[in-house]
Amino acid sequence: MSRISYVNGRYLPHKMSMVHIEDRGYQFGDGVYEVVLVLNKKLIDFDGHYRRLKRSLEQIALDYHFSQTLIKQIINRLIRFNLISNGLIYLQVTRGVAERAHQFPDDASATLVVTAKPISISPVIEGKKAITTTDQRWDRRDIKTIQLLPNCIAKQEAVENDAFEAIMVMNDGTITEGASSNLWMVNKENQLITRKASNIILNGITKVTIAEIAETQKIQVIERAFTVNEAKGAKELFITSATAIVTPITQLDEHMIADGNVGPVSLALRNMYLKKAL
Ligand SMILES: Cc1ncc(COP(=O)(O)O)c(C=O)c1O
Repeated sequence: MSRISYVNGRYLPHKMSMVHIEDRGYQFGDGVYEVVLVLNKKLIDFDGHYRRLKRSLEQIALDYHFSQTLIKQIINRLIRFNLISNGLIYLQVTRGVAERAHQFPDDASATLVVTAKPISISPVIEGKKAITTTDQRWDRRDIKTIQLLPNCIAKQEAVENDAFEAIMVMNDGTITEGASSNLWMVNKENQLITRKASNIILNGITKVTIAEIAETQKIQVIERAFTVNEAKGAKELFITSATAIVTPITQLDEHMIADGNVGPVSLALRNMYLKKAL
């Protein structure tokens, strides 16, 4: 069975799914995206992802009108066509095709691309290594733009150091987030600390759900900045994203977190997230 993707109203074999070389996404990174988790054929946290997509579009003044129902219909078709049970949906909107010029074109119509791919969800989760690196991004990290070069450079650095994620650090020594995730720590008082939503980070949809779950378990969530040293002294560290769900970080640079094993809070939150989702 060949993989099927969606491009501007058409469902096509993945290999033949293409956009024009003068698409502004290709030439300027002029677009936004979302990644949505699918578990048992069900879209997880879809309302949150859709709301953030609309916000991202508004923030870059990309005038594109589509309904939540239409987007859901496209995604559900891709889930069916690609026989996805557990998987990831990638959805990207760019400002469309126009003769190359920096300013926004008057007459381009937006390009919508949606792809789906299967993933396997392991019942056993291992702790991962992360490295720290400089956050080199712009000041509007709250927009989920396809301009991801600093994130790609950070992730490449992680891979070259046998790590799963790169944790990005600002000049003041505080952590922002992972190259493609939000970072959390469990401190000595068993409180959960993660960075407060602002223009400094992408406010993860998974992060918001995890905070809600933690509160139902009477775990205090404190949204504030924290340093690399604080993170290294934490009882537990973990990252969240639609792709990583909750993934424990048991080593940061050359430093083991606590005893180097996966901690109970990370494990419980991951299981509760999966249970709530299903
Ligand atoms: C930079 C960054 N931060 C955070 C996240 C987590 O967001 P979400 O939980 O919505 O997947 C992502 C996900 O791609 C990301 O790229």
